[in-house]
Amino acid sequence: MAFLRQFLPSVFLSIFIINGCCSSNSTPLSFSCGNGLEFRYPFWQRSHNRDNYGYPSLGISCIDKTPKIQLGSHLYHVKRVNNSEKTLLVSFYESTDTICPVASHAVRMNSSASFLTYSNDVNMIHFFYNCTVYPSGVEPIKCLQIGAKHAYVFLEGSVPEFDWKGYCESLVTIPVMNKSIDGSLATSFGKAMNEGFELKWSPNHDCRLCEVSGGFCIFDDNNIQKFSCSCGQGRRYASCHNQGLVTSEFKIGLLSIGLIVCCLTIAGLVFYIVKKRRNGIYKKGFNPLPSSGR
Ligand SMILES: *[C@@H]1O[C@H](CO)[C@@H](O)[C@H](O)[C@H]1NC(C)=O
Ligand SMILES: *[C@@H]1O[C@H](CO)[C@@H](O)[C@H](O)[C@H]1NC(C)=O
Ligand SMILES: *[C@@H]1O[C@H](CO)[C@@H](O)[C@H](O)[C@H]1NC(C)=O
Ligand SMILES: *[C@@H]1O[C@H](CO)[C@@H](O)[C@H](O)[C@H]1NC(C)=O
Repeated sequence: MAFLRQFLPSVFLSIFIINGCCSSNSTPLSFSCGNGLEFRYPFWQRSHNRDNYGYPSLGISCIDKTPKIQLGSHLYHVKRVNNSEKTLLVSFYESTDTICPVASHAVRMNSSASFLTYSNDVNMIHFFYNCTVYPSGVEPIKCLQIGAKHAYVFLEGSVPEFDWKGYCESLVTIPVMNKSIDGSLATSFGKAMNEGFELKWSPNHDCRLCEVSGGFCIFDDNNIQKFSCSCGQGRRYASCHNQGLVTSEFKIGLLSIGLIVCCLTIAGLVFYIVKKRRNGIYKKGFNPLPSSGR
């Protein structure tokens, strides 16, 4: 009986581990930064994402009730989200100048932002600031003229031949929406910059399979290749149709936990039997009294 009392808990423990421990919320929560814009999966709130639901690049930081998203090494203001189109509209948030803003940095997306792309309605524009030699026949940005220094802006594909790098202090490339450019870019760039640019999100192959099966994708913080699919009840599968365990790493992990539990149980059993025998021998050999107590 004592043996069973020792043995049963480990059996229950291994059943518990194999069934999946540490259950998490079965659906990701929606959230808002307090300005009325609501975010749902695959967005997630930075510093609140205990369960790692959502796409790695769609983490939202709430700063002064304003939602911010990180692209490359900069934060951008999230102005709108369209869940049915899977698009979001973002803008520079440092710039408070609505008429004649200066692009303080280029917009770059990390390779880790593989779940985000520019929408089809985005055009890249190139700024050349503080040029001391001017190309002929090109309209400068009047409001950015500082003494003899001129600034220029062009659509991608229509930058005139000129030694821009040689004659201008800084070159910055940013995306804007096609439809927000009307007439001359040199006069409408401010409006276009303030409107911002649209991004589209889409899952990668494995995550799409998970979502199609009704699950939610879960990514590892440090390694986005470590992917799993949550189908409720805290269980993690590759997809909710194929309820196999996720990665081979996870399988190996489970297998080794199982083996360890098994070995420990056997070791415990052997130890118990040996100890009991020894006690028996000891008692028989040196203590002829009947076994004590009970
Ligand atoms: C993008 O790269 C920068 C540095 O290159 C890094 O600081 C930042 O965390 C990365 N952003 C994301 C979303 O991975
Ligand atoms: C999302 O985009 C579609 C198509 O452009 C539009 O009909 C719908 O109203 C948009 N939804 C939101 C919440 O903006
Ligand atoms: C916006 O510009 C891009 C790049 O020039 C182009 O491919 C796309 O068709 C344009 N979209 C619209 C709606 O004009
Ligand atoms: C242009 O030059 C002015 C002063 O000469 C400087 O304050 C400003 O930061 C420069 N702008 C850019 C975008 O380099």
